Amino acid sequence: MLNPYERSAEVYDLYFSWLDYETNAITIHELIEERKPGAESMLELGCGTGRYMEQLRQWYGVEGLDVSESMLTVAHRRLPAATFHLADMTEFDLEKTYDAVVCLFSSVAYVTSLADLGSMMRCAARHLNPGGVLIIEPWFTPDAWVEGQIDARIVEGEGVKVARIGGNALEGNRAVMRWAWAVAWEDGDADAYVEEHPTGLFTLAEYDTLLREAGLTPEYDPEGPLGRGLHIAVKR
Ligand SMILES: C[S@@+](CC[C@H](N)C(=O)[O-])C[C@H]1O[C@@H](n2cnc3c(N)ncnc32)[C@H](O)[C@@H]1O
Repeated sequence: MLNPYERSAEVYDLYFSWLDYETNAITIHELIEERKPGAESMLELGCGTGRYMEQLRQWYGVEGLDVSESMLTVAHRRLPAATFHLADMTEFDLEKTYDAVVCLFSSVAYVTSLADLGSMMRCAARHLNPGGVLIIEPWFTPDAWVEGQIDARIVEGEGVKVARIGGNALEGNRAVMRWAWAVAWEDGDADAYVEEHPTGLFTLAEYDTLLREAGLTPEYDPEGPLGRGLHIAVKR
C-alpha cells in the first residue's frame, strides 16, 4: 500500500478543486491581522501542492513545509520562486522564526499520537516571533468520527477523469483511511492504486492543554473554514 499522496499528488488539485482557497485565505489573513497587525512572514505546515500559499503570498512572505516529496514537486511547479522545506511537522528546526505559522485543511490529521501532536505544537511555537499567531485547522474529534463510512466520487478535468473510493477503520484514537484511486486520460492511458492514510483523532481539551504547554494562549472557533473548527493561538 502506498503512502499518503505518494501517487495522488498529481491529481490532488483536481480532486480537491471544490475547496475555496481564495475565500478561506482571506479569513485566515483577517484572524492573523486582528492578533498581530502588520504580520509579514509565514510558514505553512503541511503545505501540500501550495494552493493556500498561492493565496497567502499576497500578504506574507510565505514558506511551505511538507513531508511528501510528491506534493512538494507539484508545489514547486506552482510557485517556482517560493521556499519549501521537506520535513516532518512533528520534528523540524528551520533556524528562523515567523510572524505566523499555519496548518490548514486538516494537514494535522496525519499526526497520529498525542506525543507527536505536542511535539508539533512545540516546534511551531519555537518558530514564532513574540506575539506571533499559530492557526491549526484540525481533523475530527473522536466523538465526531463516523467509523466504517465508505465514500466514492468521480471528478472530471481537462482530458482526465479521477475516481476515489475509500473506507476507514478505527484503531484506538487512529482512523485509518484507505483510498483506492483510479485515473484515466483521454490518450487512453489509465492508472489505479491504493494509498493508506492513517490519521489521529484528538479532543478539544487535548488541543487546549498542548497549546498552553507549548507557551501559547489558545482560542477555539467551532466553525472554521470547513466546519471542522479552528484553533487560533498566540505566542505569549
Ligand atoms: C490534506 S493535505 C493539505 C495540503 C494543503 N494544506 C492544502 O490545503 O491543500 C495534507 C498535507 O499534509 C502533509 N503531511 C502529512 N503529514 C505530515 C507531516 N508529518 N509533516 C509535514 N507534512 C505532512 C501531506 O503530505 C499533505 O501534503
